[in-house]
Amino acid sequence: MSIQIPRGTQDILPGQSELWQFIESQARDLCRRYQYKEIRTPIFEHTEVFLRGVGDTTDIVQKEMYSFQDRGGRDITLRPEGTAPVVRSFIENKMFGWATQPVKLFYFGPMFRYERPQAGRFRQFVQFGVEAIGSADPAIDAEVLALAMGMYKGMGLKSLKLVINSLGDKESRTMHREALINHFKPRIGEFCSDCQSRLEKNPLRILDCKKDRDHELMASAPSILEYLNEDSKAYFTKVQEYLKALEIEFEVDPTLVRGLDYYNHTAFEIMSTSEGFGAITTLCGGGRYNGLMEELGGPVTPGIGFAMSIERLIAALDAEQVRPVWDDSIDCYVVSLGESAKDYSVKLVYELRRRGFSAEKDYNDRKAKAQFKAADRLNARYVAVLGDDELAKEVINVKNMETGEQIEVGLDQFIEKFMELQR
Ligand code: HAM
Repeated sequence: MSIQIPRGTQDILPGQSELWQFIESQARDLCRRYQYKEIRTPIFEHTEVFLRGVGDTTDIVQKEMYSFQDRGGRDITLRPEGTAPVVRSFIENKMFGWATQPVKLFYFGPMFRYERPQAGRFRQFVQFGVEAIGSADPAIDAEVLALAMGMYKGMGLKSLKLVINSLGDKESRTMHREALINHFKPRIGEFCSDCQSRLEKNPLRILDCKKDRDHELMASAPSILEYLNEDSKAYFTKVQEYLKALEIEFEVDPTLVRGLDYYNHTAFEIMSTSEGFGAITTLCGGGRYNGLMEELGGPVTPGIGFAMSIERLIAALDAEQVRPVWDDSIDCYVVSLGESAKDYSVKLVYELRRRGFSAEKDYNDRKAKAQFKAADRLNARYVAVLGDDELAKEVINVKNMETGEQIEVGLDQFIEKFMELQR
């Protein structure tokens, strides 16, 4: 049997990688406008980063991590998400001491989760994410949300729904937690074993259970919004006011809890409402994680961020039939006819490329017609034609493929003329 790609992963081939590059360039440009700077953390971390960061009652930690011992006996995990590593790096590099606060970071890279692959769910996927660390101003919550929505809108998507919730501060959460335990305890025997073990440890997780989601106690579970104290309520109100001021539409959903443990106050998801979209409609998720810093051994520092996978963004583009366009032309294709001209064309494309132009030639001894076809396929803006006759006369024909205009220039002036044509 031939060797195949691992389940839940994909090759991104030429023809598709251009779209990925385009999306990445859009993300980078957005981050430049919002002033988020790139951070690159390792693909693997000490497993502890995620045990303490993401939380040991989460699906990610319990079932989905690619963990192994390296040859030195250290517990290592391929990163399932980017927030805990960024916070680890923030502490390690003492970013809390940087002059500019909050520290606004973005990342773009592969994440790994051992999940059941299906449409929109991969075992290796690429996240674009941002983290704003060092501010507890609700305005930064609105900024992060605006950035996430801006990415989708900027790509041309329209069928979007932003759902927000507040998970409150520690005090509110403690009160809610007790209410949840009281609510589920009498009938916890009817729930799955995961939920049973979550009851005392982290009852909020029960609300996020995929197996028990239709149990009648789910719908009647006490809502966090009823347990928010005054501070948490005021914070959530302010976030909503900012969103309204920015004319960003949203819905409040008190059942939104998110699948990771570090959240408090603002939590949100962006869904695709496009009809053609598959069963998994969440495009992006994020929220505030005041307290995660201390959990990982750092000084008290608030933070908020989001992450979105490029795979789901592309699925949303497909569902809405949005076809982003970018310039994929090349500057010059050199067509050569005859042996000596062919040899000379090697030098010509080299000179063009050395001057910063994209240039291509034929490497399969193709006839003139096939070479013109190739130039067409590559979207060449100019085609330079060199036959043995031209070579003998020391000239070359340069054709502007858009206007059809053709000029003959001396071979020794070709590069200069070509540069002039660009001006
Ligand atoms: P998350 O909700 O686990 O949050 O993932 C965020 C996004 O990653 C999802 O909305 C989805 O777009 C994508 N994603 C997750 N799993 C998969 C998968 N198996 N296949 C394809 N895409 C997937 C986090 O990761 C948090 N770190 C987000 C965050 C940043 N919160 C605060 N800052």
